[in-house]
Amino acid sequence: MALNSPWRADFPGILALEAEGQTYLDSAATAQKPQAMLDSLLGYYASGAANVHRAQHLPGERATRAFEATRDKAAAWLGAASREEIIFTRGSTEALNLLAYGLEHLLQPGDEIVVSALEHHANLLPWQQLARRLGLRLVVLPLDDDGTIDLAQAAALIGPRTRLLAVSQLSNVLGRWQPVAELIALARAQGALSVVDGAQGVVHGRHDVRAIGCDFYVCSAHKLYGPDGVGLLYGRGEALAQLRHWQFGGEMVLQADYQEARFRPAPLGFEAGTPPISAVIALGATLDYLSDLDAAAVAGHEAALHAKLLAGLAARDGIRLLGAPQVALASFGVDGVHGADLAHLLTEQGIAVRNGHHCAMPLLKHLGLPGALRVSLGLYNDGEDLERFFTALDKALELLR
Ligand SMILES: Cc1ncc(COP(=O)(O)O)c(C=O)c1O
Repeated sequence: MALNSPWRADFPGILALEAEGQTYLDSAATAQKPQAMLDSLLGYYASGAANVHRAQHLPGERATRAFEATRDKAAAWLGAASREEIIFTRGSTEALNLLAYGLEHLLQPGDEIVVSALEHHANLLPWQQLARRLGLRLVVLPLDDDGTIDLAQAAALIGPRTRLLAVSQLSNVLGRWQPVAELIALARAQGALSVVDGAQGVVHGRHDVRAIGCDFYVCSAHKLYGPDGVGLLYGRGEALAQLRHWQFGGEMVLQADYQEARFRPAPLGFEAGTPPISAVIALGATLDYLSDLDAAAVAGHEAALHAKLLAGLAARDGIRLLGAPQVALASFGVDGVHGADLAHLLTEQGIAVRNGHHCAMPLLKHLGLPGALRVSLGLYNDGEDLERFFTALDKALELLR
């Protein structure tokens, strides 16, 4: 099967890398960008940069309008009830740190924060450090063999002391959808708040935060074919109202005196300082581009590519897949072969995949592995990318075994 991507030509970065002899299979780390996003980025600077929310002059007004238009597009993309529920951050990591500080005042020693065994450091360390600051208990939900959070065990572990649940929608190592709606229902029954790390999930398919039922949802633009330096924090209206301000300065203030100040509510109250203006505007262009694609065709292409990736790995001896990935990526080790050696030989052949702990060290330790090799896909990848990968893999394994 050829598995051509009809969208490949929209992504100059993937074509440039191909011309350089590079096969890019690391989109779970960061994705290549469509021309529409590049045009928007350049267009903002080329037509005259200006700061947002503070100037009445024409360039300032134009920048503010374009910036705020992205808030509408992001709210629509995530299914938020209102544009006021979307806060721009620097990325998922910053959004999760914001939450860990902004919700701190709601927690007391002995309370429990529940995470899962597969969390990315971004959705583990802020909660771990909060737990250490306040004397909370961090409860870790176990996984089944496929790499899904075990719901039966979760039901036993989420209890009356649970004040907050923070889980990933889609694992960046195991490529498995997590039962976030069910977990959130368990947390809500205990009166706990819920946070979904959508950094990987948001890239594959459309997800409605209200259908998921979470209080907070975070994601990063750069994995969603957008610019780096910007991310989204969705907060359900009533949940947002409980957040304390965490960074101070700029237009987040309502009234300031030498000794005291009052601050704006969300979203602007949580966007201290000059935001990443060009990136927010270019995220808007990216969302426009993605909204215009045939979602069923994208999902079909991604599924066919993923099936080809899994079939190719299964056809080779000694490959141990981590969990049972459902979408977008596969992580694996090879019996008797050191991951770093394999990664080195793949790199030498122009294959851009990632080796290591994937910012999920506790998960890899739990699986008893020093690291894993991860192949991850974007909508611009095609069957030939995978064929080049498998040719290179076979050559590398021949040398190493
Ligand atoms: C599941 C998950 N959560 C959070 C992050 C952190 O995202 P960022 O580095 O854009 O803040 C990543 C990035 O790899 C991720 O895969």
